[in-house]
Amino acid sequence: MTASVEAARVILRDNDRGGYTVPTAGLYPYQWNWDAAFIAMGWITFDEPRAWREIDRLLEGQWADGMVPHVIFHQPNDTYFPGPAVWRTRHQPATTGITQPALLATAARKCWQVAGDRALAEDRVSAIYPKLLAWHRWWVSARDPEGRGLVGILHPWESGMDNSPAWDAAFARVSPTPTTPIRRTDTGHVDAAMRPSDDFYKRVIALIDLYASLDWDPPRLWQKTPFKVADLAVNAILHRANRDLLALAERFGSAADRTEITERLAVTAAGIDRLWNDRAGIYFPFDLISREPIEVAISAGFLPVWAGVADAARVKAMAATLERWRTKVSYLVPSTSPEDPRFEPKRYWRGPAWAMFNMLIGEGFAESGASDIAARIKSDTADLIAKAGFHEYFDPVTGDGCGGGHFSFTASTALSWGLLGE
Ligand code: GLC
Repeated sequence: MTASVEAARVILRDNDRGGYTVPTAGLYPYQWNWDAAFIAMGWITFDEPRAWREIDRLLEGQWADGMVPHVIFHQPNDTYFPGPAVWRTRHQPATTGITQPALLATAARKCWQVAGDRALAEDRVSAIYPKLLAWHRWWVSARDPEGRGLVGILHPWESGMDNSPAWDAAFARVSPTPTTPIRRTDTGHVDAAMRPSDDFYKRVIALIDLYASLDWDPPRLWQKTPFKVADLAVNAILHRANRDLLALAERFGSAADRTEITERLAVTAAGIDRLWNDRAGIYFPFDLISREPIEVAISAGFLPVWAGVADAARVKAMAATLERWRTKVSYLVPSTSPEDPRFEPKRYWRGPAWAMFNMLIGEGFAESGASDIAARIKSDTADLIAKAGFHEYFDPVTGDGCGGGHFSFTASTALSWGLLGE
């Protein structure tokens, strides 16, 4: 199938399960949090009611404390592990107990800006706005209780970059001894060499077992967890989402909301600022338990450009870092530096390029005036999709499509970023 606008729309329609879109059939049979945000930005380009519906259905899973879970198990399905029985969250609809990067306010604002049906857009955003504000407040209270200006993730899946080498050292503190038996289903769908290892899965499930035993209570999780990291995807995306929420608050919120969001933006800009590493020309994540920077260069380290918090000198330094990476790969942006010995071009977040991630980095550079590197990231992404199709991720050396096929957030990115011909 050629990579056309129509082919991308077909993927969203095929993956539609009645108001929510699965990432891809089989491998990921439920609604995922940040996937839904990317997917809404895809739907809005050709079916506005459906875009708003995607957001509403994700928010059906929101918890009373404001948290928006990383997966909403709308309908039972046994092709996925770990399902609701492993998470034990006692929430209805069934959900996981962790979250994912907070792209939703950005998606809602984007949909609101481009929507032709103004009455529908006003109606939906006025309903969505207080829920977004509640989620962003949850991030502050549950995940930055010490007021650092950086929120912490308590599970590698919360970063959206599941098995990134940046989490290896922190994750090594989690004992690979889950009480729940491991029943992997992912390797029945996708080549095991492109997926995380068995040891990784044992630790993933061990963390879920621990949190379930703590009844998913945020203060207890924060206190007892062996894994607590300030990740740049989560922090930069949340900062940007707060800017977008502030814009929505002009129309839908109160003066007090605007003051609250503005104050938080100042605190988080300062928090992200401290993660810059001048020698490496990139931002590094931070381990909140060892209290040391995690000196692993990963694609999330460029996302402060998307947040809009990097000054001109840093934008230039990051563009130079990317130019250097580009001499080692054929397509930007590898998820792990190709200069790092842990770089594995086909293994998930340890090297492959991801189209939706490229959109955030590429748009961030474009908005910061670094038009050459922005254009390079965009054309590399278009070339990957034209060559390999709408895969989950891509080998940045060969351009091969990897992981799941017929992938919703890749199709949505191609639609919303304008990568396709008719
Ligand atoms: C994987 C990815 C994550 C994504 C999910 C569903 O877990 O790492 O970013 O949200 O799959 O597509």
